[in-house]
Amino acid sequence: MQGTKYIIGNWKENPDKIEIAEELINISEKFQNKETEGNFHIAISHAVPALFAGFLMKDENNSGKIILQDISCFEGGSYTGEISAKQAKNLGILMSIVGHSETRLSPKNPKGDEDTQVNIKIQNLLKENIWACLCIGEFKRKDLDYKEYIHNQIKNCLKDIPLTSKILLAYEPIWAIGKDAERAATNEEIVDTISFIKTILPNNKVLYGGSVDETNAREILNLEVVDGLLVGRASSDPIKWEKLLSSLT
Ligand code: PGA
Repeated sequence: MQGTKYIIGNWKENPDKIEIAEELINISEKFQNKETEGNFHIAISHAVPALFAGFLMKDENNSGKIILQDISCFEGGSYTGEISAKQAKNLGILMSIVGHSETRLSPKNPKGDEDTQVNIKIQNLLKENIWACLCIGEFKRKDLDYKEYIHNQIKNCLKDIPLTSKILLAYEPIWAIGKDAERAATNEEIVDTISFIKTILPNNKVLYGGSVDETNAREILNLEVVDGLLVGRASSDPIKWEKLLSSLT
């Protein structure tokens, strides 16, 4: 047995109803810790809308499997709409995504985070002993400087943070994410970039995310350098989610 690979379903602003959230979690339970053909186990968790987190965490079976999609830059106080790392900790949350391209500064999100805010968010999480799942990835693959771009993101987001910390990376090329995605990255592109990330951070696990679905999940997960998957759209539709998980085991 070669250990564990991690599957995170990033539900984004889905599903509309808590009943569907529970259905998705029940589907995952059928596949939790199952051994794959690639000779590793899969550990499944869900990055849920914050509104659902408290409710879902009431079920003890869900402990460790519910994570957040983002966390505040602020440690608490008069910040309407924000959720602090301390609040997450007190609820029993063990991990939060940070620096997802949809929460970063972009033409679509003019109030989004720059690397400096992502860095503060990671520091806030680590202070509370919560894992950070840091998303990084280039805007365009055509630019040959994508490695430099990724290197800078890592340097800035992890500034002053000890490398032994609880940090999981997710390589998510922006051109491969969401409904406007060009396509998923090819296996060669994934291996090339994740291997590069691991030369900078040899002790951290790195997931791949971007247009992962039931047609490509297994092949990508079986790549040796890939430690897991961050799945967006296909993770909040019960039919697609079950198909994806079945394809892995
Ligand atoms: P996608 O999103 O799977 O819908 O492309 C991935 C993500 O945003 O994490």
